[in-house]
Order: sequence, then structure tokens, then C-alpha cells
Amino acid sequence: MAYSAMPGMVAGRIALVTGGSRGIGRATALALGREGAKVAVNYSKNRSAADEVVAEIRSLGGDAVALQANVGDRAQVKHMVEETVSAFGKIDILVNNAGFVYRVDAMNMEDENQFEEMMDVHMRGTFYASKDAGKHMVGQKYGRIINVSSVSGIGTASANTTPYAISKGGLIIMTKRFAQELGPYGVTVNAVAPGFIRTDFTLSLGKEYEVKAEAAAGLTALRRIGMPEEVAELILFLASDSASFITGQTITIDGGRRDTLSMSA
Ligand SMILES: NC(=O)c1ccc[n+]([C@@H]2O[C@H](COP(=O)([O-])OP(=O)(O)OC[C@H]3O[C@@H](n4cnc5c(N)ncnc54)[C@H](OP(=O)(O)O)[C@@H]3O)[C@@H](O)[C@H]2O)c1
Repeated sequence: MAYSAMPGMVAGRIALVTGGSRGIGRATALALGREGAKVAVNYSKNRSAADEVVAEIRSLGGDAVALQANVGDRAQVKHMVEETVSAFGKIDILVNNAGFVYRVDAMNMEDENQFEEMMDVHMRGTFYASKDAGKHMVGQKYGRIINVSSVSGIGTASANTTPYAISKGGLIIMTKRFAQELGPYGVTVNAVAPGFIRTDFTLSLGKEYEVKAEAAAGLTALRRIGMPEEVAELILFLASDSASFITGQTITIDGGRRDTLSMSA
């Protein structure tokens, strides 16, 4: 293994973080920037939050740009990857993180578009971003793709998250299949599966937040919920050369949850 003399775990790398404006994506963009990557910070609606992340990376001496794109839209995904390459010359690291949840009862959901929207952003967005960025990575014979799945995609079963869980479960097989497609070209593809993390995603539970957070903490070996920075450090590791022989894996980061469904292997 060649050791770089440059400081930083991802020094000289170019990264695109989808949903980099808030939560886990924000923490990941900052960690990558801190460790020497130039970062394209994708956002959907929240321009000012993305601009803050860019400013923070620049204040640390790094470089970043904010890129607006709805990753549920095929054409916008293509444009987002092209803009990253035109801003920084290449793309080495793709973090497919953008996401959200509609908390709905699968059997009685009235607006079925909510399921489609989650599939568009989580499944189709990740598929097309991996395809588009993967082509650049194949050409340069180097790349790192990290998908943000969820413990729900593995088999936890909180109420009203079945459509969401389905949209996250597919990311696990996508991770394995893209690892096979891209492995011969020096590209690794891994996923992280976070448990209950304190971000706007969970804070959107509103009045229920404290009760749900306490319940989720009680289901873990560590008896607490997680912070976005803890997930970001795992993603940073998978994006770095330290993880050079890891691919096709989904790594759970949930404090040791004990409530996974076990009806099948
Ligand atoms: N928090 C948890 O407990 C938890 C657990 C397991 C998995 N996850 C997963 O972790 C990922 C990040 O979640 P989070 O907790 O950090 O959520 P968050 O704080 O709500 O942040 C969501 C991010 O995704 C972006 N986004 C949403 N829809 C988008 C779209 N269509 N196109 C582009 N960007 C979009 C948002 O951009 P704007 O700022 O522009 O809205 C924001 O940057 C998600 O995939 C989520 O499913 C979270």
C-alpha cells in the first residue's frame, strides 16, 4: 500500500455528497472537507444550509461548492454529477445520502405517490448517481461509493415505516451488485445502515420525538441514540484508502439494536 505524504484521510480527492446540507450529509461533507477532499454539497430546497456547509469547509482551508438537484429526478442527477466534474475536474467519492421519510401506514396509505417519491429519491436516485459517477470512476480506475441505507432496510420494524423500509432495503442489494460491477476497476461500493440518529429527520417527529428517541435508545446495547457526526466518521473511513479492501458491505451503525426482525436469514 502506498502511503500519502499529504495530510488528511481523503486529501486530493473530489467528493459529491447528496443531501449534504443537513444532518448526516452535512456532517459527512464537513468530515470529508476536514480531511482534505474538495466537496460538492448537494441539496434539494435548502440553499442557505448548503451555503453554510460550503462556508464552513472553506473556513477550514478546504474547497466546496453547493449544487442544487432533486436526486429523485433522472435528468437532475446527471447534471449534478456533470457539475461536480466541471467544478473540480473529476469525481472520486460519491455519498448517496439524500433522503426523507413519509411516516405512513402501508395498508391504508391514501397518497400512494408518497411511496413513489421515496423510491425515486432513495432507489432511483442512488442507482443513477452510481451509474453516472461510476463511469468516471471506471475511467480513472479509482472510486468510492457509499450508500446511506437504514436499519429499517435490514429489518427493524418501527410503526408506519414499511414503505420507507422497502425503499432503503433495496440499497443493500444495490450495494452488493454495484460492488461486483465496479470492483474490477478499483471502485469500492459500501453502505451504512444507521439506527436512530438525532437530525431533522427524527426531530420531525415533533412532540413524539423525546418518547421515540428514548424508546429507540432502550433498544440499543449502548442505551442511547446516535449523532450525525458518528455516522459521518464511518462514511469517511469507507471513503478513505484505509478501507481499500472492503466492498459490497453494509455496516450497521446503531449502538447495537436488538429489535431486528428474524423471520428469515
Ligand atoms: N436520522 C436517522 O435516524 C436516520 C436513520 C437511518 C437512515 N437515515 C438516512 O440518512 C440519510 C440522511 O438523513 P438525515 O437524518 O441526515 O436527514 P435530514 O437531516 O432531514 O437531511 C436530509 C438531507 O437530504 C436532502 N434531501 C432530501 N430530499 C432530497 C432530494 N429529493 N434531493 C436532494 N436532496 C434531498 C435534504 O436537502 P434540503 O436541506 O435541501 O432539504 C437534506 O440535506 C437519509 O437517506 C435517511 O433516510 C437517517
